[in-house]
This record gives sequence, C-alpha cells and structure tokens, in this order.
Amino acid sequence: MSCQFDQYIERRNTCSRKWDDIEELFGKDDVLPMWIADMDFRPPRQVVEAVTKRATHGIYGYETESAGYLEAVLSWLQKRYDWRVNRDWVVHSPGVVPGLAFAVNALTEPGDRIVIQPPVYPPFYSVVRENGRQLVESPLILSEGKFSMDFASLERHFSSGIKFMIFCSPHNPVGRVWTKVELEKLAQLAVKYDVIVLSDEIWSDLVFPGHQHLPLAD
Ligand SMILES: Cc1ncc(COP(=O)(O)O)c(C=O)c1O
Repeated sequence: MSCQFDQYIERRNTCSRKWDDIEELFGKDDVLPMWIADMDFRPPRQVVEAVTKRATHGIYGYETESAGYLEAVLSWLQKRYDWRVNRDWVVHSPGVVPGLAFAVNALTEPGDRIVIQPPVYPPFYSVVRENGRQLVESPLILSEGKFSMDFASLERHFSSGIKFMIFCSPHNPVGRVWTKVELEKLAQLAVKYDVIVLSDEIWSDLVFPGHQHLPLAD
C-alpha cells in the first residue's frame, strides 16, 4: 500500500474544518491552515476501495465491530511495538479525545485533581475542565533545546493525593519520544503513589529514525 504525498487536492467546499473555516478562525483567507492534524493526501487505494464498497452497499444501519478490526489492532501493536495485548483489554471509542473524556468520567470523580504536562495538546485542558475536574499543571522543563519531564514536580503532586494524570507519548507539541528510562521513572512514581496514567499515544507511529516509541502500559 502506498500514498501519494505530492499531489495537490482541492478540499474547499467539502465541509472541511481545516479548509472551509479559515475565514472564521483567522479572519482572512490567505493563510495555510497548518494548525490541525488533518492530512491533505489520500489514503492508500485499498482503503478508498474498501470505504467505497461499503458506501455502495447503501444501507447504513447501526454497526458492530468486525473480527478483522480487532485482529488488525492487536497485530499492529504486536508488530510495531512488540506489545501483546489481550483482546479483552480493547475498548472501542469513536476518537481519541472522546476516549480521553470517557476515561476521565469512568475513572475519576467530579472535583478530582488531574495532572497534565504543558505545553500540551489543548483538548487535554478542556477534557479536564469541561468534565468538572480540576486541572493541575506539571510543566515540562526546557533545557538546551530539549524538553523533559519534571519528576520532582510530579512526585510533589502525586504525594499530595492526586490519583490521575493525562500523559502524551510521543508528546504533542514538543515532539519528544520518551525514553525507556523516563517511562520507567514515571511508571515507578505512578505505582508508588497509586496514580492512574492515561497515556495518549496517538502519535506513536510517527517517530523519526533512531527513536522507538514504547507503550507506557507495556
Ligand atoms: C495528542 C493528541 N490526541 C488526540 C488527537 C486527536 O484525536 P481524535 O481526532 O481521534 O479525537 C490529536 C490530534 O492532533 C493529538 O495531537
């Protein structure tokens, strides 16, 4: 399967948040909307064909997950990350951000404090605030052009009774692919203080050569 990355595809007038709301978002229309993770290339031909085949069927009733869908998820995690995931652990969600909100609601109580590590993907803030939880910030440390976690601040927060953290790995926007040493340190703190870490690993497949994404749960 392959993609063509250098073909210009007009996306205006396709109800695209990225291309059709430029004027509303920026007050002018001569900008390149590079603020959102929304790709301008087509997926591989096989993907378009599969979606077209399904659409051509013409009946769009309530759906269920196919066995192939779950198999694809499990085999991807094993192939890419050598991570064996039990099929009972997988829960479907219609998007990553909705999944974060479901987890916050399922695993914390209104008023609970939740740690995030700014600068970080803006919905991490809204998922906490809009669900009636309190936001606690443990900013990343920038030193010599590289961001790292502030473990002392994390330990202060965890030891003060905070039981939940939303983690970004690899981190958007700073681009860090966390190392095994860093992940182990975070995991040890979480175990020590009985903190649940909700790890958003949406960017795990996009890392530069020389770096390896490691799932925190592994
Ligand atoms: C860290 C992070 N999580 C989630 C998302 C979006 O996930 P979804 O569109 O599946 O809700 C993004 C998109 O930029 C992101 O950077």
